[in-house]
Amino acid sequence: MSYGWTTSCTDMTTSSKKSTCFLLGRGSACNLSRGLLTTSGSRDALCRQRCRRRCLCRCATPSIQDPWDLVAIQQLVWDVKPKVIYDIGTNVGGSAILFAHIMSQYAKPGEALIVSVDPKDFTVNWDAEAQRLCPRCTAVKDNPLWGQYVRFVKARAVERSALAALQKAISTFGGPVLISLDGWHRYAEVLKQCHVLSQYVTIGSYIIVQDTKLDRFLSKAGPRRAVHDFLKNNTDFEIDKSREAFLYSQHTDGYLRRIK
Ligand SMILES: C[S@@+](CC[C@H](N)C(=O)[O-])C[C@H]1O[C@@H](n2cnc3c(N)ncnc32)[C@H](O)[C@@H]1O
Repeated sequence: MSYGWTTSCTDMTTSSKKSTCFLLGRGSACNLSRGLLTTSGSRDALCRQRCRRRCLCRCATPSIQDPWDLVAIQQLVWDVKPKVIYDIGTNVGGSAILFAHIMSQYAKPGEALIVSVDPKDFTVNWDAEAQRLCPRCTAVKDNPLWGQYVRFVKARAVERSALAALQKAISTFGGPVLISLDGWHRYAEVLKQCHVLSQYVTIGSYIIVQDTKLDRFLSKAGPRRAVHDFLKNNTDFEIDKSREAFLYSQHTDGYLRRIK
């Protein structure tokens, strides 16, 4: 697969500093033996430059998800078939509709639930440009999946009202329980969410810590460091690298499977 504006890709340092490796999928041109960071760093840069002008939507709902991770996530949801998904960071409902769409293939309405939480109202897209880029998109409340599978809570992920809704969903529907962390991706916030919410995840299911790419992109401690610090004190989870099967992921080390 070529993105059409290729340049040389010779060295990890050079390519990530100058953001010149715009070629993916041609292992012969990109030096994959130097490690995933070679392509990941470049793909991050590429995405930042170009993807901001593209809109990804699902069932007419704008979604802020990387297409490659989106495929990995939909496979994961299908494998786990969670009865409860805690969707942190609703924005305008993109991830909720993705989850609901897959959920609808294994559970009838009333048999499973997505608790989607955001301190901001779901009618307002925090990314105004993304909204503008999808003129065909409609309000998520007009999507039948929203009413059938999603309970929206206007709160932060670890606020009492949000946790009460999660607990209620678990007592009503049971497990498996899956958590998707896609709020603000700051180190302290992600670490706290992992600590507080890990107890709800059932064995064999996952916490998906999104946008761990920010650590490598911004060169500072962010969600990826939070994952590793969380795992230092919690041996119930392990990183499932098999979920990064497509070689590039914005959620590197972010697919955490509960093993005990
Ligand atoms: C990247 S967007 C989410 C995109 C969405 N999951 C999707 O796939 O389209 C981040 C959202 O997280 C919300 N947010 C920030 N901090 C949060 C928190 N502590 N709990 C829940 N949501 C949060 C923001 O208001 C924003 O709407």
